[in-house]
Amino acid sequence: MTTSISPQTPFTREQIETRVRELAPWFHNMNLGGVQTAPDHFLFDYPNVKWRKIAPFVPEDLSGKTVLDIGCNAGFYAMEMKKRGAQRVVGIDSDERYLKQARLAAQVNGLDIEFEQLSVYEIGALGTKFDLVIFMGVLYHLRHPLLALDLIHEHVAGDWLLFQSMQRGSDQVQPLQDDYDFWQMDIFQEESFPRLYFIENRYSGDATNWWIPNRAAAEALLRSSGFQIVEHPEAEVYLCRTEELPDLLDGPRPYSN
Ligand SMILES: C[S@@+](CC[C@H](N)C(=O)[O-])C[C@H]1O[C@@H](n2cnc3c(N)ncnc32)[C@H](O)[C@@H]1O
Repeated sequence: MTTSISPQTPFTREQIETRVRELAPWFHNMNLGGVQTAPDHFLFDYPNVKWRKIAPFVPEDLSGKTVLDIGCNAGFYAMEMKKRGAQRVVGIDSDERYLKQARLAAQVNGLDIEFEQLSVYEIGALGTKFDLVIFMGVLYHLRHPLLALDLIHEHVAGDWLLFQSMQRGSDQVQPLQDDYDFWQMDIFQEESFPRLYFIENRYSGDATNWWIPNRAAAEALLRSSGFQIVEHPEAEVYLCRTEELPDLLDGPRPYSN
């Protein structure tokens, strides 16, 4: 179901406080009419602290552009894009509780944003491409991260992808050969070889963490899915240009048949 939120008369502070409490806990700390949604966030003033470093790399004027925020949570990034004048902003998330937060936040801020409950695996249903796709903080929550990147590339990626993933392990990136001999095993001992750490149970108390890349793997996953890294605003964040899929396989990719 798609809900379009139009600017409305602002709520009273008491009404906002009540709604913010009812919809707690919040992952996005935002100031909604003077009410902080997550003042005790373990990442401090998140995502403001992250956005301050990324903001200069995103066009200030998004007039006429369309934006899709995948895993939008309470809508922080979707709202920042709307504030920059984007013509259409769509936020999707698999969790309806977060979408309720996002709808409230957009309403309080008088921002017209579409929020829809949809998994990244279902984005083909959107039936259109977007000038900018935001895919922040979702990859490591997926059991099938490459499938998600491939689906994004195939169905919704227009010009730009703003991407973030938690990273663990080495932050070194070394040049790799195009191929290695079957008996050359040393390379797998290198901490900087692209690695995905598999979380069978929980990480940081969260059972929805599945695959955590090191830096080399995050960058390789992007390249391998047709996203050319053009900016690296901060350790975990990449601004990418969508390009043709690299010719890595001999035939068409199985999922696209
Ligand atoms: C760590 S939060 C990141 C939120 C926001 N993008 C950010 O960077 O602050 C991960 C979000 O991804 C959503 N999510 C997890 N799996 C998803 C999926 N398969 N499809 C869409 N959203 C998903 C979660 O519900 C949650 O809102």
